[in-house]
Amino acid sequence: MAEIVITGGAGRVAGFIRPGLAEHGHRVQLLDLVSPAEPLRSSERFRAVEATDVDALARAFVGADLVVHLASHATERPWPDIRDVNVESAYAVHEAAHRAGVRRVLAASSVHAAGYVPSDRAADDDVPAPRPDTFYGVSKVVLEALGSLYADRDGSTVVSARIMTCEQEPYDVRSLGTWLSPADAVRLVEAALATDLTGHHVVWGVSRNTRRPVSLAAGERIGYRPVDDAETFAPRFDDLPPLAADAPIGGDFTTGPLGTWW
Ligand SMILES: NC(=O)c1ccc[n+]([C@@H]2O[C@H](COP(=O)([O-])OP(=O)(O)OC[C@H]3O[C@@H](n4cnc5c(N)ncnc54)[C@H](O)[C@@H]3O)[C@@H](O)[C@H]2O)c1
Repeated sequence: MAEIVITGGAGRVAGFIRPGLAEHGHRVQLLDLVSPAEPLRSSERFRAVEATDVDALARAFVGADLVVHLASHATERPWPDIRDVNVESAYAVHEAAHRAGVRRVLAASSVHAAGYVPSDRAADDDVPAPRPDTFYGVSKVVLEALGSLYADRDGSTVVSARIMTCEQEPYDVRSLGTWLSPADAVRLVEAALATDLTGHHVVWGVSRNTRRPVSLAAGERIGYRPVDDAETFAPRFDDLPPLAADAPIGGDFTTGPLGTWW
């Protein structure tokens, strides 16, 4: 049983992992600007906290075994929005974890930190170097850099998970490769809680999909062993054309307009 604080606790990914965290017996504090739509369990608390407010975050983080940082704009936006929320909260969460003495942080990075990497080259390295596809992707590169900085300064454990597509089920051909199932997202949280490794670790937030374009090696080093495979859902998409072998792993984000969501 652990004390877990989740920023962005009213969001979709938080909603996916809350049942699994409750089943594992964890106590969970959900921080967000808005209350979660789903009712709170007896093991859950909600606190309204702005994710860029270092002092408020530090107060909420005291005693936490793990901070899971999910709060952000989760799609492309104009640069000032990305800077004011995603970049500022990346700093605020890591600084607050430092001040509160938290030893483990799991931060939601994104495939869009490296979205221009071609699918057929994406597993050449366990974790490819950043190659952001949007301002949103740039904010995730900054999040990873701050995670590296604070892990090295504090000797703490920071896992930056490049989440690919976290959904209940895959919804198109691309997501047959990029899907992160809710159950595997919970396994990722459990790995961040249990690993003996300190330092910064960038891992892929992806399930054990037959078609996944990326390596599981970095995740396995911290004990993340996904189980689910999107291939189970593949017959649903039999009528759709396959992806090009060299399609960028960031999908539509690589061709959509910069600074706006379409
Ligand atoms: N869902 C995916 O497939 C996916 C893929 C890659 C990365 N991610 C990342 O995972 C995280 C969660 O994604 P999601 O799909 O749940 O997004 P979401 O938009 O559903 O949830 C984000 C939550 O953050 C909160 N928030 C935003 N700004 C805030 C602020 N200033 N202060 C406090 N709370 C604030 C929102 O109210 C919202 O509840 C995000 O960081 C996103 O970039 C998600």
